[in-house]
Amino acid sequence: MSSPKAVGLGFVGTGMISDTYLENLTSFADVRVVIVGDLDQQRARRQAEKYDVPAWGTSEDVLAHPDVEIVVNLTIPAAHAEIASQAIAAGKHVWSEKPISIDRATGRALLDQAEAAGLLVGVDRHATSALIDRWGPTSTDQRCPTAAAGTRQVITRLTAS
Ligand SMILES: NC(=O)c1ccc[n+]([C@@H]2O[C@H](COP(=O)([O-])OP(=O)(O)OC[C@H]3O[C@@H](n4cnc5c(N)ncnc54)[C@H](O)[C@@H]3O)[C@@H](O)[C@H]2O)c1
Repeated sequence: MSSPKAVGLGFVGTGMISDTYLENLTSFADVRVVIVGDLDQQRARRQAEKYDVPAWGTSEDVLAHPDVEIVVNLTIPAAHAEIASQAIAAGKHVWSEKPISIDRATGRALLDQAEAAGLLVGVDRHATSALIDRWGPTSTDQRCPTAAAGTRQVITRLTAS
């Protein structure tokens, strides 16, 4: 059961991994999943009904939803940066599945965009480690210690503010 101050989450991407996220994130009192979206509308609808999420639709619907504070970006890797950038432009924090982007310049630009907007970006730790191995400790290491802790860090900073 979510508390009245629960942080609103909106999912973009309701494929295979979304079950794991939805099972967990619908069980915490300090977050509530308010909408799920996907290119495949029926997939979004199925997941909304399965996890009792009140709304479903497109990624645009998720980004436009006034109660979404964090976008949980579970799209395919090639779409991660674009969706994350759109979410930041819409004033939302972003949790992104790995990888944050498919090239370094795009990942850097995304973090710069978020910083300029005063928003947070989190990404899965294992992917972060892979990025650091490949590109050096320049990108996401400070902000994204682990998937769970990263999401928690975004949530904690929101609820503390
Ligand atoms: N499947 C796993 O076990 C697993 C584990 C860890 C991480 N991941 C990561 O999670 C992400 C998703 O994996 P998955 O297995 O759920 O993939 P999937 O292909 O099952 O699902 C991806 C979903 O995103 C949707 N989508 C793609 N582009 C979109 C867009 N522009 N707007 C809206 N929706 C869009 C697709 O329609 C699809 O429903 C990937 O980045 C993957 O690396 C997956």
